[in-house]
Order: sequence, then C-alpha cells, then structure tokens
Amino acid sequence: MRDLDTTSSPDDQARAILTGNDRGGYTVPTAGLYPYQWNWDSAFAALGFATFDIDRAWAEVETLFTGQWKNGMVPHILFHKPDPGYFPGPDVWGCHGPIPSSGISQPPVAATFIRHIFDADPDRGRARLEALFPKLTAWHQWFMNWRSDEGAICITHPWEAGRDNAPDWDGAMAAITPDGVGEYQRRDLGHVDAAMRPTKEDYDRYIWLVQRGRRLGWNEAKLAEARPFMVADPTMTFVLMRANTDLLAMAKAIGQPTDEIEAWAHTLTQGAASLWNADIGAFDSRNVLTGVRTGTVSNASFLCWYAGLEASEALPAFDRIAAAAPFGVPSYDPAAANFDSRRYWRGPSWPMLNMAIAWGLSEQGYTDRAEALRASTADLLTRHGFYEYFDPTDGHPAGGSNFTWTAAIWLAWASPNAGDA
Ligand code: GLC
Repeated sequence: MRDLDTTSSPDDQARAILTGNDRGGYTVPTAGLYPYQWNWDSAFAALGFATFDIDRAWAEVETLFTGQWKNGMVPHILFHKPDPGYFPGPDVWGCHGPIPSSGISQPPVAATFIRHIFDADPDRGRARLEALFPKLTAWHQWFMNWRSDEGAICITHPWEAGRDNAPDWDGAMAAITPDGVGEYQRRDLGHVDAAMRPTKEDYDRYIWLVQRGRRLGWNEAKLAEARPFMVADPTMTFVLMRANTDLLAMAKAIGQPTDEIEAWAHTLTQGAASLWNADIGAFDSRNVLTGVRTGTVSNASFLCWYAGLEASEALPAFDRIAAAAPFGVPSYDPAAANFDSRRYWRGPSWPMLNMAIAWGLSEQGYTDRAEALRASTADLLTRHGFYEYFDPTDGHPAGGSNFTWTAAIWLAWASPNAGDA
C-alpha cells in the first residue's frame, strides 16, 4: 500500500488503511506480512468498517463464513488467492474446506462484533443476521464439541489462540519433539525484524503440529486421540463466553431458540471460573494434558471483564501491571524474568486487545481504568501510527504498519470521535 498521507486526520488515515487493505469483500491484516483473510482480524475489520460503511462491514463477516467447514469450524486463515510470500500456505495445511484454508480456528470474536453491527441498524441488518445466525451457532457448537475442557476452551495449536508465542504455551510446547519436521523457509523474517518474531524452536513445533493435522485429515475425532498439545486458554474461554452472550441476545432479537445457547453459557461460566489462579491473583492457562497451571499473567487474563465477569479480584494485578507498563496492557507480566518487551506475544501491548479489555472494564463499572487505557492507546496511535503492537514500557512501535485491526479499533473505540462502545 502507498504511504499514508500523514497530514490527514487520524480518522481519515484509519479509514484509508481499511480500504487500502480491502482485497474485495475481505481485508488482509497488513500488506506483505499477512496477505490473506485472518479470522479474528476480519471481525475487528468489520467493526471498523461499521463506523463508516455498514454494508461493507456485513460483507467482511459474510466472506469469512464462506470458508466455514461442514463440521462448523471457521478457519483461522482463508487463502482466497495464492501468495507465495507467505509460509505456511495452503499446500502445507492440506485442508478440505470450501476455500483453501488452515485447519485450526481463532478466538470467536465475530458474534460480538456482529451484534454491534446489527444493533447499529437492526432493520437493515435483520436479513443478513438471519442468514449468519445458524453459521455462528454451528461454530460455537464446534468449540463446545471439540475444544471444551468442562467449559474452559482449549487450543490445539498456539496459533489458535491468536497469541502465537505467548509464554502460556512454553511448557506444553517443550514437551513436543518436532522429529521429522524437515526443511522449510519462513517468510515472516523477510518482512519484520527476527528479534520481534517467534524463534526457530517455536516455529519447528508450529509446523510439526500442522503436519500432524494434515496426516490425520484434520478429522477432529482422530486429532483428539493422543493429542500432543492442548491448553485451556483465557483468550478462547473469555472470548467465547462473551460471544455466546451476544449470540443469545441476537437469538432473542430474531426469534430463534435459546435453550442450547443458555446451556453453553452455563458451562462456559464454570470453565472460566476454573482458570482463576489464586497464587498469581489472575486468570491463567492450564495444560490440559498434565493439569499444570502456567502461572502466566497476560493481556488475555484481563479479558475476564469482557467475558461478563465482575472479577474485582483481578483488579490488583491489573493495576500493578498498568503501573509497570504505561503503554497499554502488556501481553506478559513485566515482572516476569523472561518478559521481552518487543517480542510479539511475550511482552508487547496489542491495541485490539486493549479495546476488548477496556470494553469489559467499562461494562463492569471500572470506568476510570477503561478511560485511562483508551487515552494511552489513542496517544500511541496518534504519535506513531497504526502499528501491529507496541513496546509497553516505552511505547516504541513494532511489527507491521498500517495494520487493519489497529485502524479498526481506532475508529470504533480509541478515536475521540468514536461512538460509545
Ligand atoms: C499473528 C497474530 C494473530 C493474528 C495474525 C494476523 O499471527 O498472532 O493473532 O491474527 O498475526 O494479524
């Protein structure tokens, strides 16, 4: 994409990023580094488009659901058009969905943002919601069938959490011996500094897990046998819990049955409670294969409020970390010995998760904290531009630039002109 005109207003710049990353019915997260449609990025994009083009917002999520598999799964990447600049591409995944795709999913933020788009103009959105509703429900059902550990929602690959190299997975990843993974060429390092990306040790295991999935035909029943990796994750659990509440509200709005969705809500509430770790005063992850708690305080820990929990017991940890890292919510506790302020999900703050955390804080009545987070995120974006992530200790921008979801959350939340979330 062309360089942005930095003399235009940040709102204009953000809209230009969304339209510039539009590939015709779907957006890419950023040109070059991520040339396809990513699941949760796309849902955030829809939220951003909704601030100036509701039809385009609906189209974004409708395109996402064209990739839905027969079993209800909505893939984390849809490879609409081949792009040799990306690895691992469709040939490595070897999937069988309606559109070439990856074989795993991503945090299901879609129902939440679809509700937001629907509420902006219910008359205009009703038919579109009616068409999407069964698809959303089938996807939520897939999570409950294949990813639930008594309501704590699990990932079967680190990429499924959307927090690729978070310390939460270190223990479970170390237990994998990536034998036979073979030679491959990463493409991310041609776009971004290696010091900001996952290491080779991580990458070998990511690819090894993909190769296993492919060998088993991405058949969930077979994949569930002797799993080498399964971690109950606060991102998935809290995001699905919230999405399910929004699905329920939409079911009521368009006169659909609610029993099943209510039953899931009950299970998810129990699962969320099981992620509370009193030893660290925060919600963390759990290696399902060993029962070991990860003891990791991350930005996903603070999605508890977004999930709808009152969770005042998590506020002290949030306040401690906010004091240590003034530029957004770090993806890992700055007090941890292996905190890495610029390496992806091992330290940096991510503006789109700042938004979700602030929505939750605000909804639970912790409005001062929500507003402080909005103001610090807005400050970062106006000062540096719409980057993928930021060093939470000094605000240095990192990763890709002109990033879709960063622009989207500016328009929907961080901008002084954003409507009420
Ligand atoms: C990285 C992020 C993931 C995101 C993708 C595209 O893999 O970890 O959350 O969806 O990039 O932006």
